[in-house]
Order: sequence, then structure tokens, then C-alpha cells
Amino acid sequence: MAYTTAYLQAYSDSFIGKSAYPTDDTSIETLAACLRDERVVITGANQATQVLIAHFLSKLTNFSSADLAKLNDSVRDLLLAYLAYDLELSGTIERILTALRRSFLEELSSGHVLEGFALDLLAALATFCFSTEYIFQETAEETIMLEALKPSSDVAHLAAVGCFTPLHGVEAAQGWLGRPVPNSYVRHMLCVQILEPAEERRLKSEIRSLSSVTNDTSALVRAMYEENPFPRWTRYPVPLRDHAMTSANFDILVAGCGTGQHPLKTAIQNPSSRVFALDLSLTSLAYAARKARAYGVSNVTFIHGDILEIEKLGMAFHHVSAVGVLHHMKNPEAGLEALLRVLLPGGQIDLAVYSEIARGDIIAAIKLREAGGFAPTLEGIRNFRQMVLHLPIDEPARKVKFIKEFSSVSGCRDLLFHVQEHRLSLPTLSELLRRHSLIVADIVVPADVKAAFRNEFPTAAYNDLEAWAQFEEKHPETFISMYRVVAEKQRSETAAL
Ligand SMILES: C[S@@+](CC[C@H](N)C(=O)[O-])C[C@H]1O[C@@H](n2cnc3c(N)ncnc32)[C@H](O)[C@@H]1O
Repeated sequence: MAYTTAYLQAYSDSFIGKSAYPTDDTSIETLAACLRDERVVITGANQATQVLIAHFLSKLTNFSSADLAKLNDSVRDLLLAYLAYDLELSGTIERILTALRRSFLEELSSGHVLEGFALDLLAALATFCFSTEYIFQETAEETIMLEALKPSSDVAHLAAVGCFTPLHGVEAAQGWLGRPVPNSYVRHMLCVQILEPAEERRLKSEIRSLSSVTNDTSALVRAMYEENPFPRWTRYPVPLRDHAMTSANFDILVAGCGTGQHPLKTAIQNPSSRVFALDLSLTSLAYAARKARAYGVSNVTFIHGDILEIEKLGMAFHHVSAVGVLHHMKNPEAGLEALLRVLLPGGQIDLAVYSEIARGDIIAAIKLREAGGFAPTLEGIRNFRQMVLHLPIDEPARKVKFIKEFSSVSGCRDLLFHVQEHRLSLPTLSELLRRHSLIVADIVVPADVKAAFRNEFPTAAYNDLEAWAQFEEKHPETFISMYRVVAEKQRSETAAL
């Protein structure tokens, strides 16, 4: 059956605020179609999927393959689609998947053969675990059971290993590349865990470097994102209509582009423009370059380097974007100044920086992390997450478990273990923009927030940051995903800079 986007969105919306939800086959098949069609954005499809998976899997007794055989076809398909093509995670699903992984390992250790749906599921689970960068806790018993597996001769053993460690680092896994494998989930696992990382390693050598990174803070930040490129993403970068600019032949700079979601959206949306995507982390850029190839996006050039050195590129841009990056520089204003030097007069800069007010719960969690001395390693991040998950219900820091970044190692590191983080208030941001003669053209917020602002401040100009500051006082979570402001560089020669 072919599904329209409107139908899929309406279906997904039907879950919002509901405690009862449709569990018939047609509904579940619809949701699986939402997950498999990566070119449509279905808000809420992921949450709805997690609700349904928890509903069906919590009815099972022990997650053995005999137990899993009781799931009907539509639930099986939904589970496979979720694990192979998504990477968000609630606490309930994390407990279920950790138990499922353990159960598979126990079966293999006691000599059971896993094939058919059980093998599909194990391979899809390995893909999911890789995408989260192995965020689930591993027990000592599991480590012992893993050591006894035979990944070079049994594909289910290989998939079980891939649930605990990336297969590109496992020698026995390489031999599987030239062999016929039984199903598409195993092939997908091999592609994600071995072939794609190999392609990224190759692509690194093709990325141009501006110069070596000399600023101390930039070097620390670079090291962090080389180890944990962020964010990992699995779906087509559908352009956001909100941030449309123009179809003219613009030169656009995306500074601090990370793993490429934002520059690819920009490039897809502005096909006759040239997009230049800069980042400190070569590993992140290689991930981005692989994605650009995979989606056939050819109007992006990736550049390795520091924003502070951007003038060395010898270019000027019609539009500059710096989303989630300036607050990770030692001196964000110096970063802004460097970007403004390469922005043409009349051009716009799209800036997003952290809000001190909105990040209250995150700051509480960071303080707990600092007090507990958790290291920014896989072990430290796993242990800290477990502590957060077991905090009392009224503890503000506990709320970070609902943030998407909490689902992966690189996300947790970016959210809670950063080496350099500034947070601003709207008055500080407003003053920063004023010092550089930047005129606010837009505040990027969802439509419902815009409507609420208009309702509470009917006479205020939409770009009035003072009015927004009052709005934020009343609604402190408004800018939880950052203040995002589009501002224009004046054409006048008398303007600052
Ligand atoms: C939080 S990530 C955001 C990535 C991307 N903008 C996004 O929204 O998905 C911050 C990125 O900025 C990069 N970065 C931090 N400081 C930088 C600098 N001085 N010059 C260039 N990139 C920088 C980091 O390497 C990292 O990839």
C-alpha cells in the first residue's frame, strides 16, 4: 500500500496526548511505513513507535526466540524498521532492548542457532547499538559470554558481537564482506558497521584543510568531536522551509557544520548555490561527506579548519550560518567577528546559541556530573547516564533523560560533558548584535510559539528581543533548543566593522 505524507502525519498525530492507542495491524503497518520512508518528516512517528513497541514487548516473558515468535508480523516489521532506521530511545525501550540483547547472547552461548526473524532482529539491534555508539551498559557476565562467541564462522555470533562493539574494529568481521549473507538486515549491519566507516576513513584525505588548529580551546573542542562526531543521523536531510533563503546563486558558509545535516539541508534547498561547510573535526566532516555522496548532493564543499581562520579561504559569502557553534569557542564574539569579516554587506547570518534560562535542568545535570567526577569516556558516560536514570523523580537533572541527545554517546558528550560551553541571555545576545550593527530579521521558533508570542505581545515588533526576553521569563523552556536569530549585516559604510 502507498501512503501519503498527510495520511502518515495524521496517523502519527493521533498518538499525541493519548493513553490508549490503535494496535490493529493496519495502524502498525502505517507506522512502519513512516519509519521506512526517510524522505517524509512525520513528527511524532518515533514516539508513537516506542509506545507500541513497549506495549507489545512488555507482554513477553523472557525475550527468548521462542517468546519472540509470538509477535505477529506487523509488530515484527515495526520493530525491525525502528531498530534499523532510527535512533531515538526512551528509558523503557532502553530496558527492553538491553534485556533483548542479553537474551540473544545467552541463547547463543548455550548453543542455540538463531535464524529467520531472530537473526534479522539481532542484526537490526546491532545496527541500532552502533548508532547509539554502544550507550547501553554491559555487564561482566556479558563480557565473558562475548569472549566465547565465534564471529568468524557464525553470522548470528557476528551480529551479537556487533551489538556490543563496532565490527570495523573486529578482525573476524572483515571476512564476512566477501561472503553471501543470509538476509538484508545482516547486509545493512555490515554496511553500517564496516563499509561506511571505511568510506569515511578514505574521504578524510580528500577534505581540504585551511591550516592547523592553533587556538587552545579550538584544539580541545576538536579532540572531543574527533572522538565523538556529533550528531549521528539516519534520515534524509529534508530542508526546513522555515530557514529558506533564496534560489539565487549564493555562496553560503555553514560554520561548525558538524556531521553535515545542516549544510546538506541548505544545499538541497538551494540547488543553484554553492555551500561551503567548515568544521574543526575531520571525522565529522568525513561523516558529512559520506552522507553527501549517499544522497547525491554535489553543491557542498567540506573544509577542515577553525572559524577564527576563515579568512584564509579567501572568499566572501552572501549568507553565513553558525548554529550551535559560537558558544563552544573560548571567545564567541571573536568567532562572530571572524564570520562577519567574510559576510558580504546586506548578507544575513543565522546564529544559534545556548540560553542560560532554558538550560536550567541541563546545568543541574552538568553540576552532578562534575561533582561525581565522571570522565568523558564510554564508561564514564554510561555510568553517569545510569545515575541520571535513577535520580528521584523530582530532581531537575533527571529531566535530561527526555532530551534526544541522551540517547547516544556523542549526544551525551555534547549535552553534558562539553569542554567549553557559554550560555547567553537575550539581553546579552541583543547587546552583542547591537555592538556589531546587526539588524535582527527573524527569531526562528516553531509556529505555535510565534502565535503565543503574538497573543501575549500583540503590539510588539516580531524582532523585538526585549519583548522576547519578557516572554522567555514567563516560558523558560521556549529556547530549549537554543536562541536562533537571523540578523542582517548593514550595507552602510558607517556600520561597525
Ligand atoms: C554542537 S556541534 C553542532 C553541529 C551542527 N552545527 C549542528 O547543528 O548539527 C558543534 C560543531 O562545531 C564545531 N566547532 C566548534 N568550534 C569550532 C571552531 N572554532 N571552528 C570550526 N568549527 C567549530 C565542532 O567541531 C562541532 O562539530
